[in-house]
Amino acid sequence: MAKARVQFICQNCGAAHQRWAGKCDSCGEWNTLVEEGTSGGIGSGPGSLKSARTGRPVTLTSLDGDIEDAPRIVSGIGELDRATGGGFVRGSALLIGGDPGIGKSTLLTQAAAALASRGHRVVYVSGEEAVAQIRLRAQRLGVASSPVELAAETNVEDILATIAEGKRPDLVIIDSIQTLWTDLADSAPGTVTQVRASSQAMIRYAKSTGAAVVLVGHVTKEGQIAGPRVVEHMVDGVLYFEGEGGHHFRILRTVKNRFGPTDEIGVFEMSDKGLREVANPSELFLGERHATAPGAAVFAAIEGTRPVLVEIQALVAASTLGTPRRAVVGWDSSRLSMILAVLEAHCGVRFGQHDVYLNVAGGYRISEPAADLAVASALVSSLTGLALPADCVYFGEISLSGAVRPVAHAQQRLKEAEKLGFGRAVLPSGSGELAGGIGAGSFQPTALADLVARIAG
Ligand code: TYD
Ligand code: MG
Repeated sequence: MAKARVQFICQNCGAAHQRWAGKCDSCGEWNTLVEEGTSGGIGSGPGSLKSARTGRPVTLTSLDGDIEDAPRIVSGIGELDRATGGGFVRGSALLIGGDPGIGKSTLLTQAAAALASRGHRVVYVSGEEAVAQIRLRAQRLGVASSPVELAAETNVEDILATIAEGKRPDLVIIDSIQTLWTDLADSAPGTVTQVRASSQAMIRYAKSTGAAVVLVGHVTKEGQIAGPRVVEHMVDGVLYFEGEGGHHFRILRTVKNRFGPTDEIGVFEMSDKGLREVANPSELFLGERHATAPGAAVFAAIEGTRPVLVEIQALVAASTLGTPRRAVVGWDSSRLSMILAVLEAHCGVRFGQHDVYLNVAGGYRISEPAADLAVASALVSSLTGLALPADCVYFGEISLSGAVRPVAHAQQRLKEAEKLGFGRAVLPSGSGELAGGIGAGSFQPTALADLVARIAG
């Protein structure tokens, strides 16, 4: 056997170091290096090779015809299937990350129950809760009678032996990867080495048996799956379950998907009976809207393939501070600085003596630059105290020169707005025909200054 070698592994990014240091060279985090042995099974040195087998490459064209679309296990929970790209793929591994308490176990218990009652064999392995606790949750969710198999295990070899009995499972859920440990690695459970080795074993299991494996991972405060960012590279798909504290919405966001589109989202609402699907998120996000207040603009966003309307709220207030405050929730703060600079430089709107607060309603998070126009409108509206028309939606990107630039999927955004009763839109010129119900009173500026002049009357 190879001589045991000691390494220091960064618990944040997984980088290996020969000697201890206070700071990881690779990711720059402090106090994340932990001593871990690397002897035994996961050693990849030449000494651990058993024999060399000759593989046989095949040509891509020879596969023509006998490979269908990825075989999927459809859960029947529409929003979950949407996020996975049409269901769990057999023989693949999926990582679901999220803050503790966000509802990962709840979602997966519901998915497990839905699949089991459709005749699939589903095994739910929990390393965090006892079987009785999982049952209690299932009872609360009203799914206690479904034939899901439960196991409270943390050792990978035990788990594999447990699920090897009986019919081959269709879906195996591991809650969570941070509790797993394997005999093959000799560091403590929860360390990067253990998480990586255990995940590897579960992924290998998925590939060799054709079962779909779902790994649950907790996220650290930095927003990374705790420790093993490496796991993200190993699995076929990564979903994040997000939500703001105090709000009931939960968003399941696809970050990586080898078998389908990314940037798709599923929207849920947490209730006392578990997660409910939200088929029309716009209605939810616009639910608590007070349309006549200054500083509010409705943005027509696109999430994956679906349009979503959200309200953007701005508050611009006279500042008593030398350096006025800029605070943003749900959007990019450097993008806000840019919009403020463009408004000052090209539209003569001054924010230098004002605090600026920007909030995306409902705990929703926007990443699209198409929100620029809605943000700028909300800012100007708040500064001037003039409310924007209640039945108007906004979208469009703003360039540093103050020009309004077209964005993709204009028609889809307009259709969604029309469906929800909006009668006009402010959008980039050249976005094509306006949909039937959206027309009179719409405005298609080419420069931001034109829009500012219009809002300020
Ligand atoms: P959980 O699924 O245990 O979170 P995670 O696995 O991501 O850590 O969800 C925990 C939270 O969800 C907890 O605060 C209670 C809440 N909850 C409900 O509001 N309704 C329910 O029906 C259930 C089961 C949980
Ligand atoms: Mg949990």
